[in-house]
Amino acid sequence: MKTVIIGPGAMGCLYAFLLTRAGYETWLLDCREDRAERIRAQGLKIEGLSGDYQLPFPRISAFPHVIAKADLLILFVKAYNTATALESARELVTANTIILTLQNGIGNVEAIREAYPHHAIVAGTTAQGATLLGCGHIRHAGMGETIIGGIDANSLFHAKLIKDLFMSAYIPTEMTEDVKGILWGKLLINCAINPLTAIMRVPNGQLPKIPDLCEIMSRAVEEGAAIARSAGITLPYSDQVAKVMEVCEATAGNRSSMLQDIEAGRKTEINYLNGALVRYGKETGVAAPVNSFLTHLVQALETGSSAVH
Ligand code: PAF
Repeated sequence: MKTVIIGPGAMGCLYAFLLTRAGYETWLLDCREDRAERIRAQGLKIEGLSGDYQLPFPRISAFPHVIAKADLLILFVKAYNTATALESARELVTANTIILTLQNGIGNVEAIREAYPHHAIVAGTTAQGATLLGCGHIRHAGMGETIIGGIDANSLFHAKLIKDLFMSAYIPTEMTEDVKGILWGKLLINCAINPLTAIMRVPNGQLPKIPDLCEIMSRAVEEGAAIARSAGITLPYSDQVAKVMEVCEATAGNRSSMLQDIEAGRKTEINYLNGALVRYGKETGVAAPVNSFLTHLVQALETGSSAVH
């Protein structure tokens, strides 16, 4: 299966590395030509949980026609870039291309459906953690399950194909019949971990050690759980707060994607995480003051660092 990953950030590079190491033809599509050229020249450099590798990586381009058609398109761009990334990939997509999103946040599936109404769409979450150390250089800092499912009955078969591909590349993967529940479960994890790591500038593993932060995380998650309930979504974990703590431990050494964004002066995904929860809460009549406060704080951090896309 020829796979094209859009977005050579930490997670894009990690999956490109894991699939390539397993022998699968895997490409990266980058919106920046200078970065694509650098990675093509230097290769991918990986350290951490998967071992230390310097992998030649010629299969990266900013030009879709160089890559040609994709059997599987994986989106690993920031949620606010999903629509643009999908547009840039049009030349790669045939009637049979499967589109997979493993991005953080809410709204990506809807954006894919709008751009490609008739394609097989698979969505899910990953508890893999990676930190971008430089261009094409990552630390594999957290190992956890990838959970995927078809967004409708027609894409179940495609989800199974992806599961088999990932498993044979040593990416532990499970399937779910309730993608929405899984996406919301991960949303709540991100709403607890990401803003606080960005505000405090600490890796994930520090959060459970600080009781005041545990209190804020619990409240953010409880608000989210109430909103999920009122929106008719079944959350996948019986104790969502305990799950957050478990993810903090499993990815203890990782700097969350939001912390990495703030440190790099990039715009964050706050409006697709806590900001999205607040908007849902307004629609369903459930207040989310802690999530609203966290949203404002992170937006203030972005303003302070003049964050750019
Ligand atoms: O956004 C992230 O960084 C990740 O989703 C997670 C699971 C919080 C690990 O750092």
